[in-house]
Amino acid sequence: MSDRIISSKPGPEDRSSWSLRPKYLKEVIGQNRVKDILSILIEAAKQRKEALDHVLLHGPPGLGKTTLAHVIANEMGVNIRITAGPAIERAGDLASILTHLQKGDILFIDEIHRLSRAVEEVLYPAMEDFVLDIVIGKGPAAKNVRLNLPRFTVIGATTRLALMTSPLRARFGATQRLDFYELDAVQAIVERAAALLKVPVDLEGAAEIARRARGTPRVALRLLRRVRDYAQVRADGRITLAVAADALELLNIDELGLDDIDRRILRAIIEKFGGGPVGLDTIGASISEEPDTIMDVYEPYLIQLGFLERTPRGRVVTPHAYAHLGLRYDGAGQPALF
Ligand SMILES: Nc1ncnc2c1ncn2[C@@H]1O[C@H](COP(=O)(O)OP(=O)(O)OP(=O)(O)O)[C@@H](O)[C@H]1O
Ligand SMILES: [Mg+2]
Repeated sequence: MSDRIISSKPGPEDRSSWSLRPKYLKEVIGQNRVKDILSILIEAAKQRKEALDHVLLHGPPGLGKTTLAHVIANEMGVNIRITAGPAIERAGDLASILTHLQKGDILFIDEIHRLSRAVEEVLYPAMEDFVLDIVIGKGPAAKNVRLNLPRFTVIGATTRLALMTSPLRARFGATQRLDFYELDAVQAIVERAAALLKVPVDLEGAAEIARRARGTPRVALRLLRRVRDYAQVRADGRITLAVAADALELLNIDELGLDDIDRRILRAIIEKFGGGPVGLDTIGASISEEPDTIMDVYEPYLIQLGFLERTPRGRVVTPHAYAHLGLRYDGAGQPALF
């Protein structure tokens, strides 16, 4: 499953994309509003010679949360320490991370919605007052000790803002949502990556890859690699419009960037549940996919396309999706094949 091409989860190839990662804000393509807000935040903190305010980045996978955290660290000229919600198992683990931070350092916590309650309790005073409350010893001899921490910055990332507790959310000075990229931004990302990888690509070839990349840089870079392979083996190495279209056709990625799983989700709702409303767990069970994966990876783009709606009673497929799949829509309930 991990080699699924449009899966916007990081895969083994992503490690080799390190060199493709923008290092400074001016190299980050798209997300202009987020960049503006961050650059003001960064500039202000630098002028005051203070640690940056805590920043929370949220949005669908593969849009650049991790990249932005590194960019912020580079812009501030500070160290970044990387961890993730599930990796910090006990309060003591967090205490040990915190006591090793230096003034101004960034602590990047990926999947921050998965921190345990006990760990969160340690994080609150650390973020708010830069103190660490620890208990030394056991039983009646136990003592509460309060340690001062250097001023540091937490950058949190999550695909699930709704699962974060409100006290934790409240401790971030800036909360930014990353949205799917505009088409021209994705195209620029493809062109930049092609130049860095020394892959010859026509403007139309880059545009074709961008169109099918579901507004997601990680998907765009992955498609670029697959199309490059195809161009090398089946053509003369150059990514033209025709080469890109043929390669993506072969990968079963349609003009809108939908893959087999997207289509199975839509078809299952239409064919088994009359177009919905149907609950996420039921959809997951009917196509053997994790409901969480559907919700994080597939659903946001289907919703953005206007193919799927979230209603209080469950997911509903829209007439646009029927049209895209070549199915006739006759109101709720009764879909029919042409
Ligand atoms: N604005 C951008 N310009 C150029 N490349 C980008 C941009 N944003 C992201 N990328 C590239 O896309 C890939 C995915 O980005 P990143 O790993 O930061 O996503 P993410 O939001 O952290 O995803 P996840 O939620 O899955 O952790 C990286 O390889 C990065 O090089
Ligand atoms: Mg990430």
